[in-house]
Amino acid sequence: MNYLGNGFGTNTIHSGVTADRGYHSLNMPIYQTSTFYFDTCEQGGRSFAGEEDAYIYSRMGNPTVCLLEEKVAAMEGGEAAAATASGMGAISAALWSIAGAGKHIIADKTLYGCTFALLSHGMTRYGVEVSMIDTSDLEEVKANLKENTVAVYLETPANPNLKITDIEAISKIAHAYNPAIKVVVDNTFATPYVQKPLSLGADVVVHSATKYINGHGDVVAGLVVGKKDFITEVKSFGIKDMTGCVLGPQEAFLIIRGLKTFEIRMQRHCENAQKVVEYLMNEPKVEHVYFPGVPTHPNHDIACRQMKNFGVMISIEVKGGKRAGMDFVNHLKMAKIAVSLGDAETLVQHPASMTHSAYNAEELADAGIPEGLVRISVGLENAADIIEDLKQAFTHVK
Ligand SMILES: Cc1ncc(COP(=O)(O)O)c(C=O)c1O
Repeated sequence: MNYLGNGFGTNTIHSGVTADRGYHSLNMPIYQTSTFYFDTCEQGGRSFAGEEDAYIYSRMGNPTVCLLEEKVAAMEGGEAAAATASGMGAISAALWSIAGAGKHIIADKTLYGCTFALLSHGMTRYGVEVSMIDTSDLEEVKANLKENTVAVYLETPANPNLKITDIEAISKIAHAYNPAIKVVVDNTFATPYVQKPLSLGADVVVHSATKYINGHGDVVAGLVVGKKDFITEVKSFGIKDMTGCVLGPQEAFLIIRGLKTFEIRMQRHCENAQKVVEYLMNEPKVEHVYFPGVPTHPNHDIACRQMKNFGVMISIEVKGGKRAGMDFVNHLKMAKIAVSLGDAETLVQHPASMTHSAYNAEELADAGIPEGLVRISVGLENAADIIEDLKQAFTHVK
């Protein structure tokens, strides 16, 4: 194990074992291999029996991927982590490792669309019972706990309306009812720089590492973080047997490379977001700013308690509804119209005409998504340039 300091940035850079012992390579090599050979059948047998520590086959473990897992476990303050081929891979591998036919999951109804789909019509197809509720209402959480409840699943801040849920309170309620219930938090929006759900009592953290953890828009990946025993189950059942969603060593290498600048990227992202919010609060064409740092946010007090600052993602409601939202987005010059988030480039999307275009007005209202809602992933450009771009785009909104 390398020498570690006290700082988050120091530990992100130095945590984990770099397996190169031969050439003192500063960077972890990309172990681009599907399999690992044994000297004898006996050694192979001991490795399969778990009596000898050895890599066997890259779906079950790879040194480059393991370094990424060690780093993200350290960043989240967890015992271990499992890397996956996508954020959805992480979420499904984690949830299949917890639930099965006859088990019950409580989930928030405001979730990333594919997670909503997995829970609402994916897992239910295989006999898992799912209650989609508002987890920011603690009484509703209490009322939905049952004998067969195995997990409470939530995002905070949630996608796309940045709803905040009290992780500590939910964990206390769930564990008081049954200590075996796993509180699973998608920490993609906040990142471990801003919020550490495990230290607030949650059991499992899942990530789309496609976003801030990689941060460069060139990899699709995911991570599950938690107790060692649970991560062993995720690797040996959720990934190996159920989903096969293993991360390749190339992708792991790129993410490890990106992590060297994770802390300074997040500092800049968060500073930029704060400046952009200050501008948007005074922009006459904005009806509403959704950001946990705004004192009028319904759970601003919880955000102050559980987040180090308020993150990077901002949603706004443009005055004038759907057409106005689209006109604003269509006239952006520097920011890119794109789904995904957490990249160096400012990325903007309009759910009513893009990700949620299949929803009618009533369904949008039910999901808490106004037709003029625009989601902004504030990038790493200079804040003044981002604001200038937003300002000029607003001049095209009638
Ligand atoms: C909050 C959140 N969780 C999970 C995912 C899924 O991640 P991936 O696209 O890496 O599968 C996303 C993707 O946008 C997301 O925004």
